[in-house]
Amino acid sequence: MEPAALLLAVGLGLVTAASAGHTAVECWFVEDAGRGSLAQRPAALLLRPGPQGPPPRPDLDPKLYLQVEDPTGTLQAAFRRYPRSTPAPHCEISRFLPLPASSSWLRGLTPEQSCPQALNGAWLMVSMSSSVFSLSILLQPQPEPQQEPVPITKATVVLTVLSHTPALRVQLGQDAVVDLSFSYMPPTLEAAASLPPGPPPFGLEWRRQHMGKGHLLLAATPGLGGQMPAAQEGAVAFAAWDDDEPWGPWTGNGTFWLPAVQPFQEGTYLATVHLPYLQGQVTLELSMHKPPKVSLMPAPLVWAAPGEAPPELICLVSHFYPSKGLEVEWELRGGPEGYSVKAEGQRWFSSLHHHSDGSVSLSAYLQPLPVTTKQHGARYACRVRHPSLHASGRSAEVTLKVAGLSGPSIEDGIGLFLSAFLLLGLIKALGCVAAYLTMCKDSEKKTQ
Ligand SMILES: *[C@@H]1O[C@H](CO)[C@@H](O)[C@H](O)[C@H]1NC(C)=O
Repeated sequence: MEPAALLLAVGLGLVTAASAGHTAVECWFVEDAGRGSLAQRPAALLLRPGPQGPPPRPDLDPKLYLQVEDPTGTLQAAFRRYPRSTPAPHCEISRFLPLPASSSWLRGLTPEQSCPQALNGAWLMVSMSSSVFSLSILLQPQPEPQQEPVPITKATVVLTVLSHTPALRVQLGQDAVVDLSFSYMPPTLEAAASLPPGPPPFGLEWRRQHMGKGHLLLAATPGLGGQMPAAQEGAVAFAAWDDDEPWGPWTGNGTFWLPAVQPFQEGTYLATVHLPYLQGQVTLELSMHKPPKVSLMPAPLVWAAPGEAPPELICLVSHFYPSKGLEVEWELRGGPEGYSVKAEGQRWFSSLHHHSDGSVSLSAYLQPLPVTTKQHGARYACRVRHPSLHASGRSAEVTLKVAGLSGPSIEDGIGLFLSAFLLLGLIKALGCVAAYLTMCKDSEKKTQ
């Protein structure tokens, strides 16, 4: 979307039911139904109740109609920025069980052996994805729904992990900067009071999914030390809390930076933020592209006699990525029809040439049909379409001159004259050299 359009859409407001003064996000509650199958039931998150209070939702189980309290404001802010023209996010809710992280480098996060009391009770994990963000929240719902004024369950956001680059497209060879932020509000004040003031230790982990496994690219536990796995592929993350308020809420930055990306790095990335016993994870897609350079040979003119075919034309389409989705069309522009038509003739492609940066090149050929005098001055063009280019693609052209039609132009005349002049000079010079050499030989003979 164009920046201007985005601004406009942001100005227009919220996702669903904004006119009624409240904002609700429709979700699915997914749970294990046994024997490897999943059951899903409708659920909704009410982000803003509106002046009349929560609208009744008799269609929902009151335990799955959640009125969300968001002490850090991160979720609310993400929805305030949500463009109205964008389809609502896909939203899925599941149960969450607080557990210590399994990786050894994260052991420092949970030195005590048991899960603190404050984390007891039910937890829900909400995952939302759309083209504008990828978001994960941990919710602590109240044990029972309230019945008045409408049956609904209040739930408090504890951890939010958010990325505004859910599907990042980067030019091959450039750096990928993948946005990630997180925010945390301890579940209860008693829990916070038992810990030293200030933001808690956290762990940040970036993985790329590869053959069903998460390949660890970067692990960080700022301030915890310990034996850390080395960062891979030159990856760097900005892993820090933004503020050091004594009691929260806190927001942090886990933005990930991957230098000079190559095709093997395309794929699904998982970012996980670990807090003691709590985790939030978002998935993102990284893809790459590189627009082709297009040139046409011969250039800038091609000659043919009336009734004869011009020489074959070669359209060089170079250094593009991915190799999929490339189309080459041949056009004849400004011919007797006055507009652009498909250029007829035999056409074929070379095989792909692979470059060390992962991009590819190929050549498209056209053997044009014999020309008529009426086609003098028309242009052959190759038009290249590729997902990395605008819909109209990119083209290169060459002008057709039909020999003996309009006679040589002034420029051609000057060119001919100059060539003749130079040729004459060259012949003369060669003549002199020849004459000189004979002379020398003669003189040598004489001196012997
Ligand atoms: C996170 O850090 C990156 C790198 O310094 C910065 O560009 C970005 O603006 C930060 N994000 C937030 C939300 O502060």
